Order: sequence, then C-alpha cells, then structure tokens
Amino acid sequence: MPDDGSKPMLPAVEAFIDRMRRVFADGIPEPERWEICREYLKELIANSELKEHAKSWPITGYNPKTDRVQNLLFYEDKDYGFVINALIKNPGGSAMVHDHGSAWTIYGVLAGEERIVHFDSEEKPDGCFLTKESHSEYCGPGDVDVVKPWLIHSEYAGEEKSIAVIVRSKKSGTFKQYRYLENGERVIIKGPEQVPYSLF
Ligand SMILES: [Fe+2]
Repeated sequence: MPDDGSKPMLPAVEAFIDRMRRVFADGIPEPERWEICREYLKELIANSELKEHAKSWPITGYNPKTDRVQNLLFYEDKDYGFVINALIKNPGGSAMVHDHGSAWTIYGVLAGEERIVHFDSEEKPDGCFLTKESHSEYCGPGDVDVVKPWLIHSEYAGEEKSIAVIVRSKKSGTFKQYRYLENGERVIIKGPEQVPYSLF
C-alpha cells in the first residue's frame, strides 16, 4: 500500500493494490494493463474474507437528492489514479444506457448475475445518436468484464442481489461521460456518486 498513513484494508485488497501499483510502476501500457488487472481482480473476488465482508455492504441505489446512482468507494490511488468501487443492486435492478467516457472499467461479479447489453451507435447529421443493441453477455460469480472507454452499454441484475467489485482507471465524476436517451439525444452525466466505505 502507498505510504500515506492510511489504515490497512483486508490483506487480499492490500495485495491487489500492491500488484496494480507494480503494473503501473513497470509502465505496462493499455490495454495490457487492464487485462492483467482482470486476472488480479478474478483472484480478489474469489477471496473468502472479501466475500464474507461483502455480505454487509449496503445496496447502492439511486439517490434522488443528487439524481445519481451510488458506488461504494473503497480506495483511490493517489499516484496512479485508479479506484476500487462496489456496486450492489437489488434483484432486477438495471442501469440506463450509458458509456464510461474515457475511463477503463474492470467489472468483477462477486455474487449474483448480471446481463451486460452492448450497443452500437451512429451519429446522425442532426447530432442525434442512433443506438442499436448489438449483443449481450451474462456474467456470473467470478466473471470479470473489461469495459473499454466509450463502449455504450447497459447492465441488468438477475433474480438475486448482485454485488460487483469494480476497478476504474479514474474516479467517476472527474471526467465526462454520456447517457443515451430513446429520442436519440446524448446527455452528459456525472457518473456514479462516490460513497466512501471502509474495507477494514
Ligand atoms: Fe456501466
């Protein structure tokens, strides 16, 4: 962990952070950096201590006060900018059609099931965006998806509560990302509200 006086987290999380910091320090470029992250995150979400801890994580729903969905924020790396979040959805919960802007998102399903629907888009001369469902994939416990910058997608939870641990290349709310409306408009969104949460 970085020597900033912060309290250590669960050992598996500290080990994950150390490994990711080494990837950055070694200068491994994108997209390889995130493929390595996928493998490390697979190991992390299989960790029994983390799984036990996750049982007490709160549902991260929509906050009407901020008009944003929430993510738990476990960690932000002060040197390399990557963050570790969690997203906990009730059965049947879904996300609007959106992208993650210029950020990479490594999405690990710790419990439950998610269907991730990908969309193709075409920008019309009038500035409208035509989005068309291209394909969808199921992610179950232990699966990790690498979501590239600007990929348009939507996520749907299955019949159980779903818990995802997410590594983002930068913290949501610090860069531009879009939501795609049915009328073809694309509107800027701030991304998930960051709710600090301790992994001690
Ligand atoms: Fe997303």
